Amino acid sequence: MITANDFDVSAAWHVAAPYDFLRVLRRERPVFRSEHLGAYVITRYEDVRAAYGDPRRFSSEGSLTISRTLSEETRRTLGEHGSFLSSFVANIDPPAHTRLRRSVSRAFTPRAVAAMRRRFSDLNEELLERALPRGGGDFVAELAHPPSVKLTARFIGVPEADEAFVQERVKDWFQLFLSPQPAERQPVLAEGFLTYLDYVDKLVAARAAEPRDDFVSLMASLIGTELSHREVVELISTILLGGNDTVPNQLGNSVLRLLREGAWPVPPAMVQSAVEECMRIDGASLGSFRHTTTDVEMHGVTIPAGSLCLLSTDSAAHDETVFTEPERFRIDRRNADAHMTLGYGIHFCVGAALARLQLRTALEVLGRRLPGLRLAPGGPIAYRASIVGRGLSALHVEW
Ligand code: HEM
Repeated sequence: MITANDFDVSAAWHVAAPYDFLRVLRRERPVFRSEHLGAYVITRYEDVRAAYGDPRRFSSEGSLTISRTLSEETRRTLGEHGSFLSSFVANIDPPAHTRLRRSVSRAFTPRAVAAMRRRFSDLNEELLERALPRGGGDFVAELAHPPSVKLTARFIGVPEADEAFVQERVKDWFQLFLSPQPAERQPVLAEGFLTYLDYVDKLVAARAAEPRDDFVSLMASLIGTELSHREVVELISTILLGGNDTVPNQLGNSVLRLLREGAWPVPPAMVQSAVEECMRIDGASLGSFRHTTTDVEMHGVTIPAGSLCLLSTDSAAHDETVFTEPERFRIDRRNADAHMTLGYGIHFCVGAALARLQLRTALEVLGRRLPGLRLAPGGPIAYRASIVGRGLSALHVEW
């Protein structure tokens, strides 16, 4: 029999299909402590939303720095950066959060985001032009990642020549901080991460001296008035990860779902709701971490002050009290966008509009250009190990 002790977001079965298990937990153990995760897990929609909405009791401070698995040697190599992300917008509480969030939001105005549509559509078209004659390949590496990576780089202001370098280094830090690594691999990743930080630092200095029309320049112009240098470096390093990884993961999950459901290509009028239903049923983020600032009573369980908690948006998105027949994919589900895959409350994803724009544009262009897209027979479906996200390591397709 499966018990709450089996809750292990890094196990392959758990990443791929935890939903029968989560249903039992929602009913019988809505709040429990996971030994694997070293955290309390909150599984019901209502409770997850309430916790997101209560930053006083569920603090974001240090929530993303899951670096408890770093060895002493790695910590020494990282020095002051061992506590990297302590100034990142997702990792702080009001009032500092309010100030940072206001600055970051300046770059994500509806106009700035809308201006990305054409660019993203062109990036997809160009890529497909080259890919079409091949007749098939790995959707994740060949079709999902390249346009998002390029768009994010342009938006941030990373020169084209540096894109490949940035992508490699972002992978280092993602692995180092967000998925447990064996001690012998940590020093290599730590070196890669330091090289990356150094690069971002120089980029900020260059744009401060000679501003251009990009995110780095805008944020660099706020140093000294609204933001500190460190806040800007952490923000840029992290947003590069946000754009490089989350959107392609969500797109891969969505395309797999649509192909399995026989819902490909998505009619243009349905793209918007398909994107929301895919985010709900196969979300690219599994939830958010918080620390309790005081003892919190929930369903007879006392979460002691100072405990790490996972607000499981993955479970919440399958909560039958909110979503009728949650395991059924319904392309026209009315309330699909009530999912919290993009978070909720004051930390709600600042890139949400950009993420949605990319997902919709990709489904439109791919559906039009590759109407015969199908899964390659026998291709294994495997997920990358991560405690915060769900993404396929590869998806073999034909077109
Ligand atoms: C499908 C793609 C995406 C998913 C699933 C996603 C998910 C999330 C989630 C769950 C949060 C809340 C974190 C928390 O409450 O602790 C968040 C926050 C954030 N996201 Fe995203 N994200 C996506 C795309 C993006 C993109 C494209 C960007 C930027 C280019 C971005 C930048 C951010 C930032 C800066 C925050 C912190 C906001 C704050 O703390 O106020 N995200 N995201």
